[in-house]
Amino acid sequence: MGIVLRNGRILNEAGELVKRDILIEHNRIAKIAELLDSEGHEVIELAGKFLSAGLIDVHVHLREPGFEAKETIETGANAAVHGGFTTVACMPNTRPVIDSVEIVRSILDKASAAGKARVLPYGAITQRQLGKELTDFAALKAAGIFALTDDGVGVQSSAMMKKAMQQAKEHGLSIVAHCEDDDLLIPGAALHDGITAARHGLPGIPSESESIHVGRDILLAEQTGVHYHVCHISAKESVRLVRDGKRAGVNVTAEVSPHHLLLCDEDIPDDLDARWKMNPPLRSKEDRAALLAGLKDGTIDMIATDHAPHTEEEKAKGLERAPFGIVGSETAFPLLYTHLVLTGELTLAELVAKLTVKPAEIFGLPYGRLAEGELADLTVIDLESEREIDPARFASKGRNTPFAGWRCKGWPVLTIVDGKVVYQQEKEEE
Ligand code: DOR
Ligand code: ZN
Ligand code: ZN
Repeated sequence: MGIVLRNGRILNEAGELVKRDILIEHNRIAKIAELLDSEGHEVIELAGKFLSAGLIDVHVHLREPGFEAKETIETGANAAVHGGFTTVACMPNTRPVIDSVEIVRSILDKASAAGKARVLPYGAITQRQLGKELTDFAALKAAGIFALTDDGVGVQSSAMMKKAMQQAKEHGLSIVAHCEDDDLLIPGAALHDGITAARHGLPGIPSESESIHVGRDILLAEQTGVHYHVCHISAKESVRLVRDGKRAGVNVTAEVSPHHLLLCDEDIPDDLDARWKMNPPLRSKEDRAALLAGLKDGTIDMIATDHAPHTEEEKAKGLERAPFGIVGSETAFPLLYTHLVLTGELTLAELVAKLTVKPAEIFGLPYGRLAEGELADLTVIDLESEREIDPARFASKGRNTPFAGWRCKGWPVLTIVDGKVVYQQEKEEE
């Protein structure tokens, strides 16, 4: 017995929404047609709701092992499917760091026990993310890592990054970079070095602390031929460098987060609540415009959330002492749909591509496509119903978001991973 998803609306090649039924058999999309015979199958009525390939997020922090008060693999993978994400790649800045085969295996085991989103662990580039010695790329690859990154910190030494790229290239692994030159940081700086920091008399985080690494790494990627991916791009100069790198034929790609697309430093309220503190910081209006332009012209390939849960106590320590990071899994799609698609900045097809087929193509994942024969990773989204973002309702342990109270349309209501329903909005949730 299979499952028939009845009366969904899917995007056709021309980017129009068309009514379709989908038959899932075993874990694959067996048929897509205007009307399917449901005889002998379970039927789920979608009543015209939007049906997409499952969303992919290549940047989340699941915090396990080591920081289970912030999030666990189970709560993070559950938050992902609440947000319509069927695959997430999790960052290695755990304790211990994901720098050994044992940790990779234990994350994969916990994720499959949770049975929610697919979880693809990153392996650290350097042991304990200290930037001193490379990890064992061959062993990590064999254990099943998604790619290599030291996210949370930048790789400070150019020589170390070059060596990492040479070895990653040999092993067919991507280098994914949190771009930050520590030399250019002022201790305690929490906001972009721009008008808001200046107005409050605070030290800022300059754009070039990011873009210097972006430029350096594009040159090293050109030299070594590795696939190089920029995390959470935030500065207009970085966008320009990626655009130039692509034009020169370098294998460089980039992601942008929903918060950098939707907010800038001028939006930060005068109380300077730490829910507005993340790294990289919200930059200027001009940077935000450059990110949108880069997303539209293909310089920026995909959207990834940088879901970074922290506890209430940690985030209550005030702007200077609170940790960097905001949650993103459960708000990404409604925020982007409401504030970029409904406003006419992006089409629905463009938004969906940046969250599905683009990350799948770039990282060689067998997901992200809605077609017969593909794996049944699917997301159903209600494009009509509207409600406020309410952190108290999150499946994530993290409540740290600057978007609380924002009214959004486009809420995920049903998520299917590998042919199994892993999230369905309950009636009482409505
Ligand atoms: O905002 C951030 N949060 N940026 C980072 O680089 C790390 C992350 C975290 O781990 O909380
Ligand atoms: Zn980062
Ligand atoms: Zn991150």
